[in-house]
Amino acid sequence: MSDKLIIFDTTLRDGEQSPGASMTKDEKIRIAKILEKMRVDVIEAGFAIASPGDFDAVRAVAKAVKDSTVCSLARALDKDIDRAGEALKNTNSPRIHTFIATSDIHMKMKLNMTPDEVVSQAVRSVKRATKFTDNIEFSPEDAGRSELDFLCRIIEATIDAGATTINIPDTVGYNVPHQFGETMRLLIDRIPNSDKAIFSAHCHNDLGLAVSNSLSAVLNGARQIECTINGLGERAGNTSLEEAVMAVRTRQDIFDCDTRIDTENILSASRLVSSITGFVVQPNKAIVGANAFAHEAGIHQDGILKHRETYEIMKAEDVGWNANKLVLGKHSGRNAFKARLSELGFEFESDSEFNDAFARFKDLADKKHEIFDEDLQALISETQTEAEEVIRLISLKVCTESGKNNTADVTLLINGEEKSASAKTSGAVDATFNAILSLVNIEPTLQLYSVSNVTQGTDSLGEVNVRLEHEGRIVNGQGVDTDIITSSAKAYVHALNKVMENTERAHPQI
Ligand code: KIV
Ligand code: ZN
Repeated sequence: MSDKLIIFDTTLRDGEQSPGASMTKDEKIRIAKILEKMRVDVIEAGFAIASPGDFDAVRAVAKAVKDSTVCSLARALDKDIDRAGEALKNTNSPRIHTFIATSDIHMKMKLNMTPDEVVSQAVRSVKRATKFTDNIEFSPEDAGRSELDFLCRIIEATIDAGATTINIPDTVGYNVPHQFGETMRLLIDRIPNSDKAIFSAHCHNDLGLAVSNSLSAVLNGARQIECTINGLGERAGNTSLEEAVMAVRTRQDIFDCDTRIDTENILSASRLVSSITGFVVQPNKAIVGANAFAHEAGIHQDGILKHRETYEIMKAEDVGWNANKLVLGKHSGRNAFKARLSELGFEFESDSEFNDAFARFKDLADKKHEIFDEDLQALISETQTEAEEVIRLISLKVCTESGKNNTADVTLLINGEEKSASAKTSGAVDATFNAILSLVNIEPTLQLYSVSNVTQGTDSLGEVNVRLEHEGRIVNGQGVDTDIITSSAKAYVHALNKVMENTERAHPQI
């Protein structure tokens, strides 16, 4: 049995299936780059046939990533496999992940197919995928509720057809740890050609058991875990990458395998995904929550001071905490700025992008005395986010007086034309949004508005997330500024820009 545990990240595919977590191509590239830096083995970049936008995103991630395998999902249909193969054409290490449902309920009620038909379609699809790559993953969807004998039959046939990874999804999050582990063990023991493939676990968190189920699968022979940053994913989410990776790393006395993940990047990845999707991380979330390493009780603090291991099983720095060093200030020059950004993993595509970022940095340094890594991350995220805008915020003036209505005067550049409007209501943010909305021809519904501080202190950058729904589509926008009304306006404009890109997409599990 190999001692290497493969980490397959599906933040960009299953994670994106969370209602409201949709991401643009550029956002996916940014997340993919940090996953690659973290040494994730396989990045599932999307579901290429879902829409032209998804196809482009898979292709762009495939091009941008060099050190991880890039994968596209495909139903067990010729057209899906061909589209996935096409999207992955230019990547160093492509994988096609094809799936078909195998539980009685899915075969009868969803597919309306007999078990024989399901086996032959699965085999046909795996064979077709071999035209594009020899790295093929097959998933019997809803395996967690499928008959064991049928699973053995279809898995044996797909391995014979060329599948090199067999992924066992608990699609509806129904399994419990000892049972899921036993299923994994029985499959590996009973299937005659199981040694020709790596077995993988893909668990959903409907009962809060996704991480436990995945770890139980590893203890029973699985050598790949499918997971997402912050546990993002369909409904209650998927196995959380940070929790699964740190459990295996911390309990090397229990697990006879380990991942190659560079865990120091975990916190940055978590923050990036949270900021792009607007899914805030709860403070008590393991590993990446604000309180994950905070010791409140006096007795704990005392113990930690005497000997860290009295109350800490992991080092906060190992997952990227305490990296918020004072890095740059008002007098820092272009070279220092560039060098620090390169250490943080940011690259610029052009001089003008770099100049824009440097100008923003100088502007921020005038307003904020101390600049931390988190400030730089937020600033650069914003620079890279704005690349595709059709609406731009030119200026905002807000007058507030307690007990009175607030007035917002907004000027936007819309398709190259400057337009201004004012609005007056009891709230400054509300007045700002109303003024902006009066200048565009759409009426989206606001689903989420949240503000968080990027660093400590009242001079911190405020990051605002806005989620809008328009004609069935959901988009997220982010904005950062030392002034939170301006951050709000930027986030709203960012989301409106996304609403205006008209994209239709299919859902893989329908
Ligand atoms: O949950 C699931 O079954 C999936 C498959 C497509 C692997 O996401
Ligand atoms: Zn899933």
